Amino acid sequence: MKQSSIFTAALSSLALLIMTACSTTPTDMTKANIIPKPVSVTATGETFSLTRNSDIFVPEGSVDIISTGQFLADKLNPSTGLDLQVIADGTKPGKGDILLTLSEGDAELGEEGYELEVTGKLLKITANKPAGLFYGVQTVRQLLPAGVETTTLQEGLWEIPTGTIRDYPDYSYRGMMRDVARHFFSADDIKIFIDQMAAYKMNVLHLHLSDDQGWRIEITSWPNLAIHGGSTQVGGGEGGYYTREQYADMVKYAAERYITIIPEIDMPGHTNAALASYPELNISRKASELYTGIKVGFSTLDTKSEVTYKFVDDVFRELTELTPGPYLHIGGDESHSTKLEDYIPFVNRVQEIVAAHGKMVIGWDEIALATLKPNSVVQYWAKAENAIKGVQQGAKVLMSPSKYAYIDMKYDSTSVYGLNWAGYIEVDHGYNWDPATLVPEIKRENIIGIEAPLWAETVSNRTEAEYLLFPRLLGYAEIGWTPTALRSWDEYRVRLASHGARLEAMGISFYRSARVEWDQQE
Ligand code: ACM
Repeated sequence: MKQSSIFTAALSSLALLIMTACSTTPTDMTKANIIPKPVSVTATGETFSLTRNSDIFVPEGSVDIISTGQFLADKLNPSTGLDLQVIADGTKPGKGDILLTLSEGDAELGEEGYELEVTGKLLKITANKPAGLFYGVQTVRQLLPAGVETTTLQEGLWEIPTGTIRDYPDYSYRGMMRDVARHFFSADDIKIFIDQMAAYKMNVLHLHLSDDQGWRIEITSWPNLAIHGGSTQVGGGEGGYYTREQYADMVKYAAERYITIIPEIDMPGHTNAALASYPELNISRKASELYTGIKVGFSTLDTKSEVTYKFVDDVFRELTELTPGPYLHIGGDESHSTKLEDYIPFVNRVQEIVAAHGKMVIGWDEIALATLKPNSVVQYWAKAENAIKGVQQGAKVLMSPSKYAYIDMKYDSTSVYGLNWAGYIEVDHGYNWDPATLVPEIKRENIIGIEAPLWAETVSNRTEAEYLLFPRLLGYAEIGWTPTALRSWDEYRVRLASHGARLEAMGISFYRSARVEWDQQE
């Protein structure tokens, strides 16, 4: 054979080998590349197959569980063509079916855990609460080949290894933040992101709805906030805002995926968009100009004016109407133009306003300089000493250390988007930390969970945002869900590699870090 034909022959036998490897019937559940890593997996060495006869059985009359069953059917049907139906008429499942069922009595599983038991005959998910069934369904997606994530019909055997997974989260708050103020992202973009978070069992989406560059939520009692304050963005584009209806629809869409939306109105700094919309909020009583740059620390509400507190009360009253969740985020960061003697009483009073609306406060770590209410939450991003002050006041801490969890930081010096003021965050660096030991004075029992914020100075559309979000989001999902003792980078990177094909099938534009050997495992 000529050299080139030897090469071709070698290539085609390699391709055959890869195809054979890919189509091997999966029998070892412990080898499944699930992210976040489950608490326990016991394999029984056989295979369960979804076929044309398979359906999804749910209890009669449970709207939430029917909806989760339908979520699974809607995910699997386009790619598998199996036409799975959700059956809620009290009939029993047969061979090859999926069963979602509630059990009240499994204390270890808690509010969000699930047990997934797969035999050759049946795939059964059991949980105490519907949320657990929803998370069990996310695991089922990952037990199937990556092609299941596409929306077009795929050739393939839809097989799952048998065994039992018992799984529940370490932290109850597993969040992401999207800054829709520096650049506006449409409600449709955010819904796509909500689905991406849900696939990895995250449960809080914090929306940074206002900043110097834009105000992004309609407030009926102060209409100019959105109309004028929402009319531009970084770089001078047209900006935008969510109407109340659009926002309510996002909240509902998220809730159907067990995600709570927390709205943030940043104050007393980061308020130029509001100050440009209403002269009476300014110390000078003159409206400021709209701002499209990326400097921080130059704006402040007039903390001594009663009009300001009327504004805060109206905004949080309207946001409370749109917020079923327990928290309102008051910002509080980088108020460099507010004197500390004005900042402290302002934060104290805003906490009272939020409490009067029946909600609890989250604020960036600077709010710990004020007198915190016992149920206020300090979001640690910059200064450990602030977060420690919060703990000393009895507050809980949300961990978003900028050096590890700021998803707007570049991966390295060659990253196309992102900033680097908190350092570079390669995929391993973003994964390799433990919220419960990062700051010795902040203990596990002080921490409600973790959140990775995506600030949007440098990203203006979904593709650009996804480059920074993925694959790092998967690591933050695992830090929030999986006990630290079960996590290691060397093992995680192998699982992460197999998610390359999955992310691609989901249509996500992700950063192919050289520290991961992508797609060797699918
Ligand atoms: C922040 O990054 N200014 C909270």
